[in-house]
Amino acid sequence: MTQAFDVIVIGAGPGGYIAAIRAAQLGFKVACVDAWKNANGGPAPGGTCTNVGCIPSKALLQSSEHYDQARNHFDEHGITATGVKMDVAQMLARKDSVVQQNNDGILYLFKKNKISFFHGHGALAAPVDGVHHVTVSGSTEAALSAPQIIIATGSSARALPGTPFDEVNVLSNDGALRVVAVPKKLVLIGSGVIGLEMGSVWRRLGAEVTILEGLPTFLGAVDQQIAKEAKKAFDKQGLKIELGVKVGEIKVAKKGVSVAYTNAKGEAQTLDADKLIVSIGRVPHTAGLNAESVGLALDERGAVVVDADCKTNVPGIWAVGDVVRGPMLAHKAEEEGVAVAERIAGQHAHVNFNTVPWVIYTSPEISWVGRTEEQLKADGVAYKAGTFPFLANGRARALGDTTGMVKFLADAVTDEILGVHIVGPQASELIAEAVVAMEFRASSEDIARICHAHPSLSEATKEAALAVDKRTLNF
Ligand code: FAD
Ligand code: NAI
Repeated sequence: MTQAFDVIVIGAGPGGYIAAIRAAQLGFKVACVDAWKNANGGPAPGGTCTNVGCIPSKALLQSSEHYDQARNHFDEHGITATGVKMDVAQMLARKDSVVQQNNDGILYLFKKNKISFFHGHGALAAPVDGVHHVTVSGSTEAALSAPQIIIATGSSARALPGTPFDEVNVLSNDGALRVVAVPKKLVLIGSGVIGLEMGSVWRRLGAEVTILEGLPTFLGAVDQQIAKEAKKAFDKQGLKIELGVKVGEIKVAKKGVSVAYTNAKGEAQTLDADKLIVSIGRVPHTAGLNAESVGLALDERGAVVVDADCKTNVPGIWAVGDVVRGPMLAHKAEEEGVAVAERIAGQHAHVNFNTVPWVIYTSPEISWVGRTEEQLKADGVAYKAGTFPFLANGRARALGDTTGMVKFLADAVTDEILGVHIVGPQASELIAEAVVAMEFRASSEDIARICHAHPSLSEATKEAALAVDKRTLNF
C-alpha cells in the first residue's frame, strides 16, 4: 500500500536530514529515505559527511594532532613524554564511535520531529495525478507518495580513468579513513581539500607522504598570499607536494602501487607506495534515482539542474547539496535544505552564496569567506588589503602556534569587507566573525572598532581590520 506524505526527502546527508527536520518543524508530514548501511547493515543516516567525510576526517585529524603534539611539542612546555606510541586500531575505533554517535543523533532527531525514516534505496516513479511517487527497496520495501520531493543524494569520489577504487591499495576518501596500519609510503593524487587533510593525518602518524597535483598553482582557489604561507608550513612539516604533474600509468600489485608521472620539468618519474589515495574531486550521485521516469534534467556531470531556489525542471521536485551546482560543503547543503523546506511552506528563504565559508582542517588551518585578492583584481574592483601575523598575537605565542596571518580585503571606496582569509591556529572558528560581518555588510572599520577579548586569537582579526587603514596597534 502506498503511504502518503507531504514531503519525501531522498538522502539523509546534511542536505537531506536538515531539510526533513525543517519541513517537519513547519508542520509537514515528512518521510526521509536513506540507503547508507553501517558495518552491521543497519541504518547510518548522515551521508558522506557523517560516515566518510567531515566527521571521521576531523576525528582522525584530532587524534593525529595529539600524537604529533606529544611527540614533537610537549617538550617545549617542559613535559617529558617518552615511549609515545600510536595505536591505529584504537584511533579508528574512536573515530567509528564518533561516527556512530552522530548516526544515532540523527535517528533520535527523526523520532523527535516525527519524521518517518525508511532505510533503503529510493527511486523516483512516474507521477499519478500530479502526485510524485518514490519506491523504497533494499533494507526496507515501501511505496511512498507526496506532492513535494527533495533530492539530496550527494556525491561520490571521482576515480582516475582506468584505475577504479579497490579500497585496499587504491583508496577513495572511504578507504583513506580505514587504513589499519600506518603506510610507510603514501601517495595522494590531488592536493585539494581531501589530499591535504588526509595527507596531514598519515604524515603526522609517520608515513612518508607525497601529493601529486596536476595544476601548477597550489590551492588555486585560495588567496595566493595565504596559500603560499600554508605551503611554507606544509613544506616544513615534510609534506611533499609536487605541482604541475601529469599522472601516467598506475600499476596496482598485491602489495602496493606504482605511479608513473611526468613532473613540472617534463621528466618521467615513478613513485612506489604502499597505498594510493585518489582525491581529485567528487561527482554528483544520481545513479539508481530513476531520474528519467519523471523527466528530471541532469547536466553533463550528472548533477540535478536547479535554479537559484533549488527548483528542478519538474514541478514539485527540488534538489539540494552536493548533487546540485555550487560548492560541495556540508553547511551549504544544510542551508539549501532549510531554504527549500521554507519555500515549500510558502516562505521567502534566502541562501547567500557570497558568505559561504570554507575551511581546510590542516595544521595550520586555512579558512576564508568572500573574494580573494586575485578575484578582486580580475573583477576590476579597487580594494585595500590589511594583514596581521599571528607572530604578533599574545594568545598565539602562549599557545605556541604563531604560524600564519589574518588578511582583510575591503572596498577602496566604501570600506565594505569583500573577503577575509586566514591561515593559522583556530582559523576554522575565527572565520565565523568574518562571515557575520560580511552578512551584515560591515566595513573593516566596524570590526576595527569592536572590543575583542584579550588575549585571544580574535584580536588578530581586529588588528587585520585595523591594518586595512594602516593603523595596527601591535605590529
Ligand atoms: P551526502 O552527505 O553525500 O548524503 C547523501 C545521502 O544520500 C547518502 O547517505 C547516500 O547514501 C544517500 N543516497 C544517495 N542516493 C540515494 C538513493 N537513491 N536512495 C536513498 N539514499 C540515497 N564538508 C564540509 O563542509 N566540511 C568538512 O569538513 C568536510 N569534510 C569532508 C571530508 C571528506 C573526506 C569528504 C569526502 C567530504 C567532506 N566534506 C566536508 C563535504 C561534505 O561531506 C559534503 O558536502 C556533504 O556531505 C554533502 O551533503 P549532501 O547531503 O548533499 O550529500
Ligand atoms: P578538490 O576539488 O578540493 O581537489 C582536487 C584536486 O585534484 C585539485 O587541486 C585538482 O587540480 C586536482 N586534480 C584533479 N584531477 C587531477 C589529476 N588527474 N591529476 C592530478 N591532480 C588532479 O577535491 P577533493 O580534495 O577530492 O575534495 C572534494 C570536495 O569535498 C572538496 O572540493 C570539498 O568540496 C569537499 N571537502 C571539503 C572539506 C572541508 O570543507 N574541509 C574536506 C574534504 C572535502
